[in-house]
Amino acid sequence: MDIYARPEEAGVKRLLAESGLTTADITAQHLHHFFGCGSEGRLEGVVGLELYGTVALLRSLAVAAAQRGLGLGSRLVEHAEGYARGKGVKSLYLLTTTAEAFFRARGYVRIPREDAPGAIEATGEFSGLCPVSSAFMVKHLEDNPH
Ligand SMILES: CC(C)(COP(=O)(O)OP(=O)(O)OC[C@H]1O[C@@H](n2cnc3c(N)ncnc32)[C@H](O)[C@@H]1OP(=O)(O)O)[C@@H](O)C(=O)NCCC(=O)NCCS
Repeated sequence: MDIYARPEEAGVKRLLAESGLTTADITAQHLHHFFGCGSEGRLEGVVGLELYGTVALLRSLAVAAAQRGLGLGSRLVEHAEGYARGKGVKSLYLLTTTAEAFFRARGYVRIPREDAPGAIEATGEFSGLCPVSSAFMVKHLEDNPH
């Protein structure tokens, strides 16, 4: 299934809401570094990035319930990582309440929130939209993964 850039706002909001993730800060502007996949015009997976120079926030990863367990989530994360690497990102951060084990299995490690770079600390997710109980995780991207 192809992954494409800038999925349509209404579809993203619907999928995030269905998956229990926040839609509060999603705007057309925000979707600039978002990616989607799906068939027949229906969005079945989404992932987003907020880029801040050499660091970035990976966010809004969701796969439609009927499509889970087929590898879509993993492919979306890999795609976002490759895109971020191409933009010069060295460290990719995220917050999650529901998928810590999923991300741990994909090379992310939990770190204290106090270790967040300023740009990440200033994001809406970090400063309020995600609960303080969320796991804060990082993956340091290699320059040449293969
Ligand atoms: C997390 C999510 C995106 C994974 O998508 P997916 O397409 O099912 O993922 P994949 O098929 O690539 O991978 C499935 C693997 O992850 C595991 N997995 C899926 N969700 C998991 C979770 N919440 N916690 C731990 N492991 C999880 C599966 O057991 C499976 O393991 P395996 O690779 O060892 O077989 C999807 O479950 C989802 O949309 N969840 C609700 C929204 C959410 O929690 N998003 C993360 C917010 S940061």
